[in-house]
Amino acid sequence: MLTLSCKLTAKGGSILSWAEAYDKAYGLVSQMTLVEKANVTSGLGWAMGLCVGNTGPVDRLGFPSLCLQDGPLGLRFADKATAFPAGITAGMTWNRGLLYQRGAAHGKEARGKGIHVLLGPAFGALGRMPAAGRNWEGFSVDPYLMGIASAETIKGIQSYGVSATAKHFIANEQEHFRQGVNAISSNVDDRTMHEMYLWPFADAVHAGVGAVMCSYNKVNNSAACENSKLMNGLLKDELGFQGFVMSDWLAQMSGVASALSGLDMTMPGDGYLWDDRKPFWGPQLTRSIINGSLPYDRLDDMTTRIVATWYHFGQNKDFPEVNFSSWTKNSTGRIYEGSGNPPYGEVNKHVNVMEDNHLLARQVATEGTVLLKNNDGFLPLKKKAQKIGIYGEDAGPGDGPNACTDRGCNQGTLAVGWGSGSSDFEYLVSPLEAIQRQAAQDGSKISAILNNTLLAEVESDSSKQDVCLVFINSDSGEGYITWDNNAGDRNDLYAQKGGDNLVLAAAKRCRNTVVVVHSVGPIIMEKWINHRNVRSVVWANLPGQESGNALVDILYGDANPSGKLAYTIGRSLEDYGPTAGVMYTANAEVPQQDFTEGLYLDYRHFDKESISPRFEFGYGMSYTKYSYANIRVYQTGRRTPLPARRPHSPVSPPTYNSTIPKPEEALYPPGFQRINRMIYPYLDSENITYSKYPYPEGYDTPATPSQAGGGEGGNPALWEELYKVTVQISNTGHVAGAEVAQLYVSYPSEKKVDFPVRQLRGFEKVWLEPGQKKTLTFYLRRRDLSYWDVVRQNWIIPDSTICVSVGASSRKLYEHASLP
Ligand code: NOJ
Repeated sequence: MLTLSCKLTAKGGSILSWAEAYDKAYGLVSQMTLVEKANVTSGLGWAMGLCVGNTGPVDRLGFPSLCLQDGPLGLRFADKATAFPAGITAGMTWNRGLLYQRGAAHGKEARGKGIHVLLGPAFGALGRMPAAGRNWEGFSVDPYLMGIASAETIKGIQSYGVSATAKHFIANEQEHFRQGVNAISSNVDDRTMHEMYLWPFADAVHAGVGAVMCSYNKVNNSAACENSKLMNGLLKDELGFQGFVMSDWLAQMSGVASALSGLDMTMPGDGYLWDDRKPFWGPQLTRSIINGSLPYDRLDDMTTRIVATWYHFGQNKDFPEVNFSSWTKNSTGRIYEGSGNPPYGEVNKHVNVMEDNHLLARQVATEGTVLLKNNDGFLPLKKKAQKIGIYGEDAGPGDGPNACTDRGCNQGTLAVGWGSGSSDFEYLVSPLEAIQRQAAQDGSKISAILNNTLLAEVESDSSKQDVCLVFINSDSGEGYITWDNNAGDRNDLYAQKGGDNLVLAAAKRCRNTVVVVHSVGPIIMEKWINHRNVRSVVWANLPGQESGNALVDILYGDANPSGKLAYTIGRSLEDYGPTAGVMYTANAEVPQQDFTEGLYLDYRHFDKESISPRFEFGYGMSYTKYSYANIRVYQTGRRTPLPARRPHSPVSPPTYNSTIPKPEEALYPPGFQRINRMIYPYLDSENITYSKYPYPEGYDTPATPSQAGGGEGGNPALWEELYKVTVQISNTGHVAGAEVAQLYVSYPSEKKVDFPVRQLRGFEKVWLEPGQKKTLTFYLRRRDLSYWDVVRQNWIIPDSTICVSVGASSRKLYEHASLP
């Protein structure tokens, strides 16, 4: 394994686009004392500020306490904010522009509440295991789609001067055994790491992401937040990341070692346990500099990265104060909740940041809905008077959308999964409410049974209806909440709350049954999918606050479905492969999860093993038809096996020559008023043990910079376009709609290197009126055609035929060509 020194390659300030921010940061950080630097890098302790994460300020120099807040789809714990559709729903839109807009709206809302660092998007978990609890926070199991969706989201968020956070770094694939000293180890080989798990992070860094959150799990048996190969090596050297790395909450496992490995900020500041106020950093960081355990230039780099990020997003000017509290919805409360003490003050100004984002939320939910089955064009429903049966708890409001903390239960209609990746709903339009509104306009009569156990009643009621809408769902979330025995991860891939039986009860006698599914991930639908009375299946994902409205748009044809699956729906869990199951029982004290399937996740596995999925990756129907023709390939760049050499940077990281102060200079200032339980960077006494913590072997040896590095997101040559592929698409049906055309790359003649049958490397969503024809262009960059060569430690384009296929899904490929 490469030995890396943070002294050389991994310092921030080595990339031109951040140079101005680093200059300014240098100006500020060079005025800071040791304790001030320690304060900036450390959290104040759980609940010691208004946000879920709060750093120490440097009041003397006007550097604020930074507010870090979840999460990937809304502003957690805040009121008067939008609950957007989840990442997985947004991913299923395959709409770059919309992904950007969703990010931008989210970023603007965050800014309006005074949030400096938004804790999202999430794209690890990638989705190695379809039942894993947090897959829905991300956009897709395919790294290419995940990467583009993440990059668009990040650009959107950051367009409002809020730093996004790329999380969780990395290979954080399941919730069981996720946390603590004995957290699970994801054992990943180098090629798989690069081509699957790291891939979207490269997009994120290329998009200029300001923060990265290292994850709870171990990678190859060293904690992700204490893993030099990951943070100093892959992230900072190879991907050229210029922002700062924060720990996931309590993911830090050591003081000096984590700093040496590349961690820049600890969250929430406590040690191993919530609220324990036994920080690894804070005063300990101060001490470690004074006694020589941590080189001072590492702390300078940590601080500079954080301060540079603040400048980079212009947060030094006119940035709103935090105006909400994570701990109460009341207007007044404790300023430092975790202190248990006064002072009290106004903590919630109830600033409404929603503007008209409900329109955007609705559009994302609509475009993210996938039509899976539609026999004889049964949908859209006619807007005429008819009898409509609505069955299933998932159609209705239940006990209200915020009934359980962090949405930690499956009740009422499912619009988001649970955990820190959820947010509070200002309102949630249930399917029932929206369908009732439509029915009132049409003069239709609704009969609703929202109790999933009343199967006999459903069977008899459904026999009297013209149309039966059956609502089923499947929920999961973050591992600190267990619902119905699902400890974050789902226990299986079946619909929950008896969903299968509910469908069968309705479909038994109702000839026009439509199944609507709200789900965190694939479900097995073999019990009913081929039932002749199940005319249509609508895959509505996790739609957020506009759930019912978006659904009605699709059901009644006001919107033509254009979502496509961002994962495969198999016929069984086994179909996903022998390693696709969550590890529910530990196989060692530190559970060992070997990612032996390598690249073969989801469709890559189905294709390799020639397994026919129930619905393949990329699949989705429309109310119209599209045809594909005239593929053309143009070479636009020079195809060489290796990229150009890593460029030399015109800028270099700042150097400080800071002098280590005497311990007495780091003591609490005389008369200092401590806030109960706050983590401070000061020393209690000047007695310091000067036994230097031994640096890991090789730490002082300058590392050879990775050839794959040199720019944000890696070697700039990897992002150069080499080919252009055009295809003509026509709408041959009778209604307007949007098609997602997908491009897959394959290497049919390659013998020396193992390649998946095909891999997604391009997609475009295009709007077409009936009869309209458009030419779409796909751009293939060097990285899209390369594999990671573990010996050469670089991206290589194989010297073989490369084929491209374009079509409507991973299995409906109509146009083929080979690259010259
Ligand atoms: C733990 C979660 O894993 C992470 O995603 C979240 O941002 C933090 N908690 C803060 O809530």
